[in-house]
Amino acid sequence: MTAIIRTGAALRDKVAGWKRAGALVGVVPTMGALHDGHLSLARAARASSDRVIVTVFVNPKQFNNPNDLANYPKTEAQDLALLKAEGVDVLFAPGPDEVYPAGFATTVSVAGVSEPLEGAHRPGHFDGVATVVSKLFGMTQAGRAFFGEKDWQQLQVVRRLVADLNIPIQIIGCPTIRESDGLAMSSRNVRLTTAERAIAPALQGALQTAAKDLRAGLPAGKALAAAAVQIISAGFANVEYLELRAAEGLAPLTALTAPARLLVAAQLGEVRLIDNIPV
Ligand code: PAF
Repeated sequence: MTAIIRTGAALRDKVAGWKRAGALVGVVPTMGALHDGHLSLARAARASSDRVIVTVFVNPKQFNNPNDLANYPKTEAQDLALLKAEGVDVLFAPGPDEVYPAGFATTVSVAGVSEPLEGAHRPGHFDGVATVVSKLFGMTQAGRAFFGEKDWQQLQVVRRLVADLNIPIQIIGCPTIRESDGLAMSSRNVRLTTAERAIAPALQGALQTAAKDLRAGLPAGKALAAAAVQIISAGFANVEYLELRAAEGLAPLTALTAPARLLVAAQLGEVRLIDNIPV
């Protein structure tokens, strides 16, 4: 049975009871419109925690584009049914006033790792993420939190945040879940037209080509330029960034001198897609 809880006070009571009984609490923060990627996180939480909370909150502070916020899919009844099937204990679905009550005045800002890539193209995005994640960690009092590697930079930001602020929670990164044609699962994929959906896997295809070229010794500049051409030729409107970065800390790399990650953001019709792979 999955309970829906909408207030911080009710959640605190529930979690206090669990903790009195010695339970380890896992949390999966989400913005809803759940897909198999989210469910894989819920399963990882279920497998290694006594109690599992999935939070669903479309956080207005992390949207720099009002259209993206307005169009973000909301599917609570379906989300609840999916979480029941996964044996999740609580769906925590607070409203905006519960998370940001009148007078709310704090912003959590993580320097460095927040700044390039998504940070450069979506001003304020990671301040919004860091602020809401800090709130959700405080509200849920969980001992473990599960995040998808699909948002690799977000995972780095959250790791930095909990280390810097001594937040007593273990951050677990879980692999990206992909459709059978390679497209990374995302709540935004439902907004692709049929024609765009057919083009979308080219993003991951281009990352794979670049990774192969880099491993074969092609200079990063050439490998990345060829991959960008591949993405545009497939039908994407633009490539916002396509970069080779150190997997930890995200320093820019010009060759495979450290464990690395290729990260990309590109626009397909009305939808902005991101992806990343290890190299
Ligand atoms: O990855 C997401 O869905 C969001 O950025 C998160 C972590 C739930 C914070 O709103």
